[in-house]
Amino acid sequence: MHWYPGLAVILLSVLSLAPAIAAEGPATVLITGANRGIGYELARQYAGKGWTVIATARSPRDAADLKKLAAENPKVRIEKLDVTSDRSVKALAARYKGKPIDVLINNAGILGNIDAQKYGGYDFDTFDDIMAVNWKGPMRMVEAFMDNVAASQQKKIMNISSAVGSIEMTFPGQVFYRSSKAALNMAMRTLSKEVKRDPDPARKALIFGLINPGIVDTGFSKKLPIPMITAQESAAKVIVVIESYTPDKSGAFFDYKGTKIPW
Ligand SMILES: NC(=O)c1ccc[n+]([C@@H]2O[C@H](COP(=O)([O-])OP(=O)(O)OC[C@H]3O[C@@H](n4cnc5c(N)ncnc54)[C@H](OP(=O)(O)O)[C@@H]3O)[C@@H](O)[C@H]2O)c1
Repeated sequence: MHWYPGLAVILLSVLSLAPAIAAEGPATVLITGANRGIGYELARQYAGKGWTVIATARSPRDAADLKKLAAENPKVRIEKLDVTSDRSVKALAARYKGKPIDVLINNAGILGNIDAQKYGGYDFDTFDDIMAVNWKGPMRMVEAFMDNVAASQQKKIMNISSAVGSIEMTFPGQVFYRSSKAALNMAMRTLSKEVKRDPDPARKALIFGLINPGIVDTGFSKKLPIPMITAQESAAKVIVVIESYTPDKSGAFFDYKGTKIPW
């Protein structure tokens, strides 16, 4: 057999490219609250990119759009998940034990009853309900899935926050909701620092993100007399921001347009 130096060059360049190709190839994303709104659009668009999508819903039986998406795309897996339930989160984590998840998106969130968070008439049970979904939910997901994310190539824990959680940009109203998002921001930023002390190098490399998706016409903020963007536009831009999260940006807070938001 003859050995051609040209062949060696080609082989070497292919081998040296291999890790880069693997890192950019389709990956796995887990999305909470993927049955409607921004979460559904994120699921649909990641599926369109060829990713494996673990699309979670509190009630998969009622998730008609998601079921249609999964029927058309075998890489979309619908899983039952209520982020307020320890048992539910642990059951899902047990099913995926040892499986790498490149991007975890903590999207599920509630605004809560606006009248129950009005100045002078606070209903504190409503505050607990909002915190259970918007703060405890993402924290519970991080505890349960951080090693799946750490075992992946991209290692990203991304959180759909809100600009109304910015203390610098505060205006009156929605005090429970905005407090829950400010608390989420603080928690994820703290985690971004805490993992740096973890002796496990894979956990140390986790990247935490906080993203404001814009004012999105999902029915979330009903009857707001302000211009809104569609869930399609929001999700497309949020995905670009997620892609832009590099280790040096871990713990930072960005707008869906990629602009940094003041704390
Ligand atoms: N829309 C906006 O203008 C806007 C602005 C800033 C930030 N955000 C944030 O963006 C995220 C998505 O909002 P969206 O507009 O898409 O809202 P949405 O259309 O109301 O969807 C919310 C999603 O969260 C799920 N969810 C609620 N409680 C849950 C729980 N206990 N466990 C698991 N899932 C739960 C819902 O599931 P069910 O169908 O079962 O209720 C639904 O899938 C939220 O975190 C929100 O705070 C939205």
